[in-house]
Amino acid sequence: MPDPSVYPGADYYDVTMRKGTWRFHRDLGPATVWGYWAKHPHDPHKAIGMGYLGPTISVTKDRPTVVKWRNELPTTHMFQSVVDGIRGGDPQLTPVAPPPYKSEPPFPKNVNVWNVVHQHGGFTAPQSDGAPLHSFSPDGVHAESYTTLEPGKVEPNEAICAYTNRELSSMLWYHDHGMGMTSLNVYAGLAGLYLVRDPADERLGLPQGEYEVPLVLQDRTFHKDGSLAYTMTQQEGEDTPVVNGKAYPFLAVEPRRYRLRILNASNERFWRLRFDVPRDVLPQPTLPFWLIGTDGGFRAPLRMLNFLIGSAERYDLIVDFSRMPMGTNVTLTNYNAPVHYPGGGGPEISEIMQFRVTEPLSAGGDRTTPPEKLKLPEVAPIEPEPGIRRREWVLYQHELFGTMTFNAVPFMEPSQDFIKAGSTEIWEYINPNHDAHPMHVHLINFQVLNRQPIDAAGYQADYEKWLDGGRRPEDRPVLANYLTGPPIPPDPDEARSYKDTVKSYPETVTRIITQEFSPPTGTIASIPGSGTTLPATYIHHCHILEHEDDDLMRPWTIVGTDG
Ligand code: C2O
Ligand code: CU
Repeated sequence: MPDPSVYPGADYYDVTMRKGTWRFHRDLGPATVWGYWAKHPHDPHKAIGMGYLGPTISVTKDRPTVVKWRNELPTTHMFQSVVDGIRGGDPQLTPVAPPPYKSEPPFPKNVNVWNVVHQHGGFTAPQSDGAPLHSFSPDGVHAESYTTLEPGKVEPNEAICAYTNRELSSMLWYHDHGMGMTSLNVYAGLAGLYLVRDPADERLGLPQGEYEVPLVLQDRTFHKDGSLAYTMTQQEGEDTPVVNGKAYPFLAVEPRRYRLRILNASNERFWRLRFDVPRDVLPQPTLPFWLIGTDGGFRAPLRMLNFLIGSAERYDLIVDFSRMPMGTNVTLTNYNAPVHYPGGGGPEISEIMQFRVTEPLSAGGDRTTPPEKLKLPEVAPIEPEPGIRRREWVLYQHELFGTMTFNAVPFMEPSQDFIKAGSTEIWEYINPNHDAHPMHVHLINFQVLNRQPIDAAGYQADYEKWLDGGRRPEDRPVLANYLTGPPIPPDPDEARSYKDTVKSYPETVTRIITQEFSPPTGTIASIPGSGTTLPATYIHHCHILEHEDDDLMRPWTIVGTDG
């Protein structure tokens, strides 16, 4: 329900972050949660929201959106003891004087809650991008680079952002990106969906309306009374799957095709998803389905039995229940991914939700296009040009402090990476750890080029020696000397696909090739100063939220072509 009268040519929303209550399951008591509430454009007494998460913003491609984000959260955090921990650090470690591997939040000590909203996957100018240093508190305290459009028209606890909606038809999402506390804020409920619709999609014959179902997958831990616990202690039995805010839900479906748009909005959990059916229904125990799109848009349909989804990735699927006899329960299952993939170390979740084939097929039947006949364009590969710039990002974990960084540089250090506007680059995520990490780049889409196994122990040891020896550029360990096998092509579900988040597998270098780095220019929604002027700084980070908070995140800067 946008208000089109405020910014002619744009959809306007007024959205408030607020504390509320929410029942995650009928057998659980009400929980205190944080969520987003949209103001009704005509009825000041109505707000649109659930309490947990936020309303889905659905937009038409190329028609911009303007959102006023207002912060009315409490000034004490829902997980205040964790915030105190962030503030105080670990007293056991303070006697050692390490290099500053962890960034301090840029807020006075008495500010406990700070927030900012990022549109994940958005082609957005930096001042509207909602990076951590744009955070602001409920009582109107601003981090150093807090930004807002229309500065004269906002209160101190508000920020106005303009979104171009120039992305391809795709499912983006918005979520909190508060400096150093994104993990706590998203866990409390601050996330929502953002659908970019292209009117041209109407011709494709996809399941629509109630047959198009977005699924926000998360895992949460509950106290006995039903309230949320942020423990991260990962003891057996602590974690519960939550889909669209409900624990172990089910959806009654008709025997026909559905479009399921899946987002992994967990803080850190990987899922390997498949659709399990009872033994007597199909010869195989699991229902095949079709992948038709990924993070940034459609791709050529691919028949699959399962896939691995990391935090922030999106998978757009067609699932066909038409061969299921009435009364069949199809279970969305995570069949083998532990929370820390692949090393394990946390409770596993197997069953997530059910699709119960209990509804009769509606009059008219299923007229949607069979997935193998869908006319979805192949994604053209981005070809590396000779002399293409490569950039190495080492996922470096400090041996003593455990803090993670890119290249052993904390987030708060100013940008050191300057990218020519309009250029394309290859980024190499060098992961000498034992776990996978989902890497997310703001602003752009990219393609997965390949992966290659590395001698992780050798690389880590030599990298540490290099750090200790003063980081002389000429002595930096040369990746080529640590490769232990030939390049591995991207997995079928990520090849020829638009991605903004990629799984960086352990003991592996993961290479991506980016789109052109060309941020939005010009005026968005007729708001002066809403487009980009160079230099333009964005960020990339691990989308395990605890890792981006601690400190696996770096800025990078687009500079003018002649600069
Ligand atoms: Cu989904 Cu920088 O984040
Ligand atoms: Cu990580």
